[in-house]
Amino acid sequence: MRIDIITVAPELLRSPFEHSMMKRAIDKGLAEVHFHNLRDYGIGSYKKLDDMQFGGGAGMVLMIEPIAKCIEKLQAERTYDEIIYMTPDAKTLNQATANSLSLKENIIILTGHYKGVDQRVRDKYITKEISIGDYVLTGGELAAAILCDAVIRLIPGVLGDEQSALTDSFQDNLLSPPVYTRPSEYEGMKVPDILLSGNFPKIEEWRNEKAYERTQLIRPDLLDD
Ligand code: ADE
Repeated sequence: MRIDIITVAPELLRSPFEHSMMKRAIDKGLAEVHFHNLRDYGIGSYKKLDDMQFGGGAGMVLMIEPIAKCIEKLQAERTYDEIIYMTPDAKTLNQATANSLSLKENIIILTGHYKGVDQRVRDKYITKEISIGDYVLTGGELAAAILCDAVIRLIPGVLGDEQSALTDSFQDNLLSPPVYTRPSEYEGMKVPDILLSGNFPKIEEWRNEKAYERTQLIRPDLLDD
């Protein structure tokens, strides 16, 4: 999978791709990530990227020309399955979206800044808009890194233990059940007997029950879906 990220702050984005699962995916050749500095497509000698919004109001808006130039240059080189815009005014990222994006070949992620991008960018180029939650970040870079992490770990072959993605929270719209490791007793707090029993069908049943209980308590909305 190839991911092209368009940003005004590429330095904010590099580090997450140099560690852990995303690094592993890149090293294995399963994911390729390219950063494009929007400034390189800025207008005039000042490389201008933004301007005041028509109609008045605080906050600058990213102009269409630099973004159009960058996207069209990429589109001339290959076909993209999705052009995604990270913005708080969109549907929230969930596991189903991460799963479906992990099967794509080429995607562009555009990150916003300030008041966001001129609406015409969204109308002309964007095929999918994603928020990572109901709060506003300074820019879309950290949101893009989160999206990439959620997607890249699901690319077939990235996780060593394929099973572990399948049992993640949300894979079946349930939160994960509690997990324990050694010691089996710590300051009087014991690991539930069932987990030490070796009775795997019963353990599975217990985990499902706990996952359901936890979901009902913390995220009952997931059970409505
Ligand atoms: N940019 C700023 N806030 C954001 C959010 N919550 N999700 C995605 N992109 C954003």
